[in-house]
Amino acid sequence: MRTQVAIIGGGPAGLLLGQLLHKAGIDNVVIERQTGDYVQSRIRAGVLEQVTMDLLARAGVDARARTEGLPHGGIELLFKGARHRIDMRGLTDGKQVTVYGQTEVTRDLMQARSAAGLTTIYCASQVSLHDFDSHRPRVRYEKNGQTHEIECDFIAGCDGYHGVSRASVPASALHVYEKVYPFGWLGVLADVPPVSHELIYANTERGFALCSMRSESRSRYYVQVPTEERVENWSDEAFWNELRSRLDPEARERLVTGPSIEKSIAPLRSFVAEPMRFGSLFLAGDAAHIVPPTGAKGLNLATADVGYLSRALEIFYGDKSASALDRYSDVCLRRVWKAERFSWWFTSLMHRFPESGEFGQKIQEAELDYLVHSHAASTSLAENYVGLPLEVF
Ligand code: APR
Ligand code: PHB
Repeated sequence: MRTQVAIIGGGPAGLLLGQLLHKAGIDNVVIERQTGDYVQSRIRAGVLEQVTMDLLARAGVDARARTEGLPHGGIELLFKGARHRIDMRGLTDGKQVTVYGQTEVTRDLMQARSAAGLTTIYCASQVSLHDFDSHRPRVRYEKNGQTHEIECDFIAGCDGYHGVSRASVPASALHVYEKVYPFGWLGVLADVPPVSHELIYANTERGFALCSMRSESRSRYYVQVPTEERVENWSDEAFWNELRSRLDPEARERLVTGPSIEKSIAPLRSFVAEPMRFGSLFLAGDAAHIVPPTGAKGLNLATADVGYLSRALEIFYGDKSASALDRYSDVCLRRVWKAERFSWWFTSLMHRFPESGEFGQKIQEAELDYLVHSHAASTSLAENYVGLPLEVF
């Protein structure tokens, strides 16, 4: 088989890239190791920056996000028992985020790809990359007991943190930066109405909590737990009691509980691999970087990467110029590191760090008190949360 761009990974990054390239008339194939149902079943975050909404529109897959997504113009910070609203829309000249589950984004992208009759190879095993240090790279994979090879001009490594793409780059060519946090997020999805119409980020002496949602009837909640915690140790009742203990009286009163339809613990890490390009191989999304979910940047960084990459490939095939491709890594990493900083900062501010002791808790509370009463500090939080503008190639 031959294609112009072989995309490894059929998650949000790979699927959005495939759709953007298709819209630009660039032939592509997606190679995914799981089944489509498995990919679609993964529960992930759900806050889309306007940049992401614009890219979904460019790909022709924003209709449901626009009609079913929930526009949010503010968030609330809860500390010392009181909630304080950050008016993001007011502080950023009208910018907002859209609450719309990544599961839904993936479903919309999969349906669009199928409707366009584009080639997606699911259940591909033993995927390997070859000759990406040349202009004639190849991807090999096994399926139904046969080995297949795809000849291409470029390989897009959209296969996530545990994927094969970054792992195929010689260690000497990579510089990796990583920070692992001493806690995780225990998350519950439940078909109960959200406790509030906006997200509540809580800093409490028992640890961080987050009240989010997927719709007016489906809520997503998280509580910080120790790294070694196991989800089997948490009954639904234990989770709801712990969440209640981290809320203010009004939210505690309003909280509607119910059976969890998903419950899991996610570790928190910051990770960046530099550079994001190796000859004909381009890394995008979680394959190149990971952020702690506090700032809701994971999906939005992935979409920005593929927005840049699809534009650079369009320039290459249109003007026969490789200039934008040559700048891809630098342009992406400037945005990645600003999101890494924001996600690290917000995580450091909102979570309990046992080793910091009572002094650390008082410093966090002082910073939060300053933040919610300072126009400059609130504006900084707001402009990072709604998303920084994309650089123009
Ligand atoms: N071969 C083929 N596909 C692979 C391989 C492989 N060797 N390894 C992983 N994959 C697939 C995974 O099954 C997954 O479907 O690559 C896809 C990667 O998708 P994600 O991990 O979702 O990464 P990305 O598309 O970059 O999206 C980033 O997803 O995980 C969240 O928090 C993250 O919101 C962020 C977003
Ligand atoms: C979510 O709804 O899953 C969510 C929202 C905001 C975050 C992280 C996760 O910062």
